[in-house]
Amino acid sequence: MRVLLVAPPGAGKGTQGALIATHFGIPHIATGDLLRDHVARGTELGLAVQDHLGRGELVPDEIVLDMVRAAFDEAKHTGGGYVLDGMPRNMAQARALYEIGRGLEMTANVALHLKADDEELTRRLLARAALEGRSDDTEEVIRRRLDLYHEVTHPIVDWYASRGILVAVDAMRPAERVGRQILTALEAMRPLVNLVPEHARRSVDLTGLGAAFGTS
Ligand code: AP5
Repeated sequence: MRVLLVAPPGAGKGTQGALIATHFGIPHIATGDLLRDHVARGTELGLAVQDHLGRGELVPDEIVLDMVRAAFDEAKHTGGGYVLDGMPRNMAQARALYEIGRGLEMTANVALHLKADDEELTRRLLARAALEGRSDDTEEVIRRRLDLYHEVTHPIVDWYASRGILVAVDAMRPAERVGRQILTALEAMRPLVNLVPEHARRSVDLTGLGAAFGTS
């Protein structure tokens, strides 16, 4: 299974990415975690990006693309599956990622979109700030991260919809329920993902299901 997560800050990319990775036994490649690790170790790359992270700005595309190319090479040797969390963040990254995936025969089967509103996302990130103190979880920087998401990341969702690999999930519900719906959908798709040709793929919108069954 090859899954991309496209979602705003605080929607649950890290939480659900870890769940998917454990469930399918695939690597969880999280660009934010990789970058924070470089900052914590004080590497040259970490020193170059720490200011971007602290301000909630995107780091240059080449840096994250190099990191993901290396992670994909490694994933290729462990079966070729992955869950990618935090990338792509803009259209240029989406196209570059598609080319990397094509070169390795590892293009994504599913682009998972977690939907949640800004008020809830801000609440979650401020709650995390009190516990973990991540440098970008301040009110001002959260606002910048959300603005950037709406301006440059969210438009990618339509591109994945047009390619027929988008699965949209309501991420406003408790994390366990969101996770259960994601795993159910991915399990249902698993036997088919490599059989359906690109032109015949269709996106799936599960965001109304909770209300339909009276569980939202
Ligand atoms: P990144 O680490 O990707 O951060 P982010 O997108 O801001 O997302 P978060 O990690 O804050 O949230 P999440 O969606 O993973 O949610 P989580 O599960 O943690 O990127 C950080 C920075 O790195 C960027 O700003 C940029 O500078 C740089 N960067 C990274 N990738 C890049 C790229 N490709 N290009 C350029 N720059 C890049 O959950 C958040 C909180 O909510 C947790 O406390 C969790 O317990 C809680 N929670 C989760 N789900 C629920 C739920 N359903 N209900 C209630 N609480 C929940």
